[in-house]
Amino acid sequence: MSELRSILRAAAERLAGSGIASPSADACLLLEHAWGKTGEQLRRAALMGDVLPDEVATRYEALVDERAARVPLQHLTGRAHFRHLELRVGPGVFVPRPETELIVDLGLAHAPHGGVLVDLCTGAAPIPLAVKQERPDLSVHAIELSEHAYAWAAANRDRLALDVEIVNGPAQHAFPDLLGQVDVVLSNPPYIPVGMVPIDPEVRDHDPEIALYGGSHDGLRIPLEVADRAFDLLRPGGVLIMEHAETQGDSLPGALSRRGWVETRDEADLTGRPRFAMARRPA
Ligand SMILES: C[S@@+](CC[C@H](N)C(=O)[O-])C[C@H]1O[C@@H](n2cnc3c(N)ncnc32)[C@H](O)[C@@H]1O
Repeated sequence: MSELRSILRAAAERLAGSGIASPSADACLLLEHAWGKTGEQLRRAALMGDVLPDEVATRYEALVDERAARVPLQHLTGRAHFRHLELRVGPGVFVPRPETELIVDLGLAHAPHGGVLVDLCTGAAPIPLAVKQERPDLSVHAIELSEHAYAWAAANRDRLALDVEIVNGPAQHAFPDLLGQVDVVLSNPPYIPVGMVPIDPEVRDHDPEIALYGGSHDGLRIPLEVADRAFDLLRPGGVLIMEHAETQGDSLPGALSRRGWVETRDEADLTGRPRFAMARRPA
């Protein structure tokens, strides 16, 4: 049996030494996972001066080792939080990011009651599942190219029992049955310029390549192909909102304008960085 606080402190120091940005939070979340406790139960145990059972300590040590080797926290816990949802994630699927949560607010603001919303390049399906949970009146559809990611998406949909159509295939040919009928298209496509390798090992070594790279040196080949399909899916006056890299805040809206979109603009994330291109199909 070992004293809880000193174990947590040692784990946080180890993670900090490995360059983890949030070592204390990660140390606590891994211990919650290893011990099967909630955050509140863990805080209470620490306050009471509880000790850690040996078998939990062994399990915890192995998890901290893996995290120190920069395996993503979400792959170790198997969970990612997105808006009000807890999603299952792991190898083979892009881990949903907190900054993407904003695209749901932007999309819902443009979705009429009872409307149709499509998410292109859905990954683990954070966007369509959050949309459906928050706006059950909407008809929600999503597509994902990778078979592995699609399996995570479908499993998340089934476990959360949300009525969302999710299909496995290329966004460039998505939903021929919905052409001209969609009110809002959302997308967080792969957009990293080819040759620009992410610095964080969690991203570089663990997010699938198909989820990262946009297929050209400016990273916009796949996003623009996806936008072309969104154009065909949207009803006249319908809205596209697409996440992009902060370096693409001028280039993506500019390219959309040249392709016939109107009211093209860019929206910043909560830290003020340009991250979401918005455009309307002409009425
Ligand atoms: C940046 S990830 C985003 C995933 C999810 N939307 C999210 O925000 O967590 C991009 C996703 O697009 C998928 N993808 C890549 N090319 C695609 C294509 N042509 N059609 C459909 N999905 C594609 C990848 O497999 C990956 O799951």
